[in-house]
Amino acid sequence: MSMWATLRSVLRFKRVETDPVERRIARAASVADLRRIAQRRLPAGVFDYIDGAAEDERTMRANCEAFERVTFNPRVLRDLSDVDTGTTLLGRPLAYPLVLAPTGFTRIADPDGELAVARAAARADLPYTLSTLSTRSIEEVRSVSDGRLWFQVYAWRDRGLVAEMVARARAARYEALVLTVDTAVLGRRERDVRRGFSLPPSVGPGTLVDGALHPGWTWAFVRSEPIRFANVVGRDVGDGASPVTLSDYINTQFDPALSWSDVEWLRSIWDGPIVIKGIQSVEDARIAADAGVAAIALSNHGGRQLDGSPAIFDLVAPVADAVGGRIEIICDGGVRRGGDIVKAVAAGANACMAGRAYLYGLGAAGERGVDRVLGWFASDVVRTLTLLGVASVKDLDRTAILEDGATGTR
Ligand code: GLV
Repeated sequence: MSMWATLRSVLRFKRVETDPVERRIARAASVADLRRIAQRRLPAGVFDYIDGAAEDERTMRANCEAFERVTFNPRVLRDLSDVDTGTTLLGRPLAYPLVLAPTGFTRIADPDGELAVARAAARADLPYTLSTLSTRSIEEVRSVSDGRLWFQVYAWRDRGLVAEMVARARAARYEALVLTVDTAVLGRRERDVRRGFSLPPSVGPGTLVDGALHPGWTWAFVRSEPIRFANVVGRDVGDGASPVTLSDYINTQFDPALSWSDVEWLRSIWDGPIVIKGIQSVEDARIAADAGVAAIALSNHGGRQLDGSPAIFDLVAPVADAVGGRIEIICDGGVRRGGDIVKAVAAGANACMAGRAYLYGLGAAGERGVDRVLGWFASDVVRTLTLLGVASVKDLDRTAILEDGATGTR
């Protein structure tokens, strides 16, 4: 009798989860877990397009490893009853120092694509950057979000098309332009080369087999409207109605002649803030500050462009020493946890950008997967600050981290 009473007191049966999306991510506890779920759920070509990077993928790994190498310098007994993660960027508040990075062709991960990500970002009180190569248009995304939206600009050879998109972004109340400058030609993504990956994914014998192995994705893909480069539907630059490889598209449509004088031109047609994304050296950070743009995003495109370019975290401190205070510094690449955001801000960044992290969530569980990732990041930042003994993001500085094993000085 008493054995039954004891057993009854410890046995807990979990309610059976009937929602398939919740069931899929019930045991996920980290971005790495969602990545594994996305890998099972997405066709291999789609997963590899998102997950892969240029050549040997050394820079992609280095981005993450640089964060892993950082050691905190925790302090204790500092009244952490009220920890504040809020900060400002481009003069406006955000919940914690993160901007959702632009990612092309987001609907390949989930049919709702950019709409899902924009809604999740607005709920999390974070800015979302829509890509020029988005699969939902500038206006469609605005129609589902009253949150902060930024628009990423690729320099079409046809500058008239750039000007037109900038005007559309202004009309749709986008707050900032993010000019990507690391893509004069497309990096060689060897996973895509091996798979012959095209956008939108084309259906051939290989993809049919792959599709049969990933029925959830395939069913959603064939039931939803065709994937198009939504900002240029019907234009002669090609809108994805017939599949193209990204390298053919970018190398023919985007202009490798882009230079600092184009930044001037962009300033002449846009009176809001401009962020230059893809700065990878102290020298260029200085030129950007002199050019009077609002912010730079230190970025190697998640390792997808020049393999061998520096890990982004390693650039933050030297760039902050050179231009911090004159220009806001965003750091993009390798962010997988809120703790990484804390490390970047401690080193001198104003905020981070993350792309793959939310795409893994989107691929694993659609919009709820993105909510999950942004929620984890938010709680990670609170917990990390608390355990670090820093009551506010605004109080973070280099004394919070030990660089290369040096001793803290606080
Ligand atoms: C597009 O910008 C990509 O990195 O694939």
